[in-house]
Amino acid sequence: MDYFNYQNQNLFAEGVALADIAAEFGTPTYVYSRATIERHYKAFAEAAPSRDLLVCYAVKANSNIALLNLLARLGSGFDIVSEGELRRVLQAGGDAKKVVFSGVGKSVTEIEFALQTGIKCFNVESIPELERIQQVASRLNIIAPISIRVNPDIDAKTHPYISTGLKANKFGIDINDALAMYQQADAASHLKVCGVDCHIGSQLTETQPFLDALDKLLALIDKLAAVGIHLSHIDIGGGLGVPYDGETPPHPAEYAAKVVEKLAAYPQLSLIFEPGRAIMANAGVLLTKVEYLKPGQEKHFAIVDAAMNDLIRPALYSAWQSIIPVQQKSDVQALTYDVVGPVCETGDFLGKDRALAIEPGDLLVVRSAGAYGFTMSSNYNSRPRAAEVLVDGDRSYLVRQREQWQDLWRGEQLVP
Ligand code: LLP
Repeated sequence: MDYFNYQNQNLFAEGVALADIAAEFGTPTYVYSRATIERHYKAFAEAAPSRDLLVCYAVKANSNIALLNLLARLGSGFDIVSEGELRRVLQAGGDAKKVVFSGVGKSVTEIEFALQTGIKCFNVESIPELERIQQVASRLNIIAPISIRVNPDIDAKTHPYISTGLKANKFGIDINDALAMYQQADAASHLKVCGVDCHIGSQLTETQPFLDALDKLLALIDKLAAVGIHLSHIDIGGGLGVPYDGETPPHPAEYAAKVVEKLAAYPQLSLIFEPGRAIMANAGVLLTKVEYLKPGQEKHFAIVDAAMNDLIRPALYSAWQSIIPVQQKSDVQALTYDVVGPVCETGDFLGKDRALAIEPGDLLVVRSAGAYGFTMSSNYNSRPRAAEVLVDGDRSYLVRQREQWQDLWRGEQLVP
């Protein structure tokens, strides 16, 4: 559930009219709802009352420091994949002790920085990375807490939408090699083995693949216990899907209940979730203005002022996101449009074949844009990045100003 609703044919974010946001801050603009973010976070945080649970929000989904700060104030931890994300978390008032560091390519300087800030855990993805962390930790004389990201190789035939938990991709350690790697870690002077983690994919709409992965992790935990290696946490990653187009993913409470049931025999394990999309996607929209309507023989185009550089999911993944008008008009004929941006690429579209009753100058929103929206944006075609606005009740706050012209060439230099 979210807080973007029509009142008398006008779309509101909580108590603020989107039309007022466009008038005050311009377009294109990302608009987020604080109540929605907090509701979604709490759905996870309160989902397993019988367990010691830490929600580590996946920062890559949306890394604006105002949003990170809201989550930090609620006690959230964070899943990061770069020093930049860690610095954002710290800047936002997040607690380093609640940070897990994922990703296959951690550099020496990133490891140093993470050790010095005292993060909760490194989610290690390869043996060379494990050895690098040991070397850096020993040089700094800090004990590095580690978890090994295992790749549970969930059968793609049964669950074809899973893309990151298969042997064929770059993530994690083959689960059959994990025992030996844990023994190597356990013997290292500056590593402390804390947990196990996995992340099998994103936008999952069923719980079964998570449970299959969990079974494999628990079998590994048993094997480790048999050789005297006792873990304190299990991190089952993110990946819970959201409704973009009528999908019906399980509620976090339903998902968590099934996970908790499987963990009954493991009271010593604390639990970590790394949700990104499920917290942010439907807490944000991309607000844009119709510049031109361009009728055609085969297609009608609505050319808007947001483009693939602002929201790349439709172009990159053929992702479908709902597009609705800010003002519902009954006196305008609805036509079927491809909603496209000004970027010079055929792939620059936000949605195809959408029935819309619109006129030039009207405002539209692309829904479900709070996750992997702004964070994947770029300056392609020298377009300044959009503004970001956070609505809280009947107030709106600019949480990132629209980029200025000078921002486009910041750091660039002429040669003599
Ligand atoms: N943990 C790890 C280790 C991850 O790699 C990811 C996402 C997450 C957690 C959060 O997953 P979520 O709960 O958001 O599904 N750009 C794509 C999504 C890429 C997801 C990458 N990893 C998109 O726009 O659909």
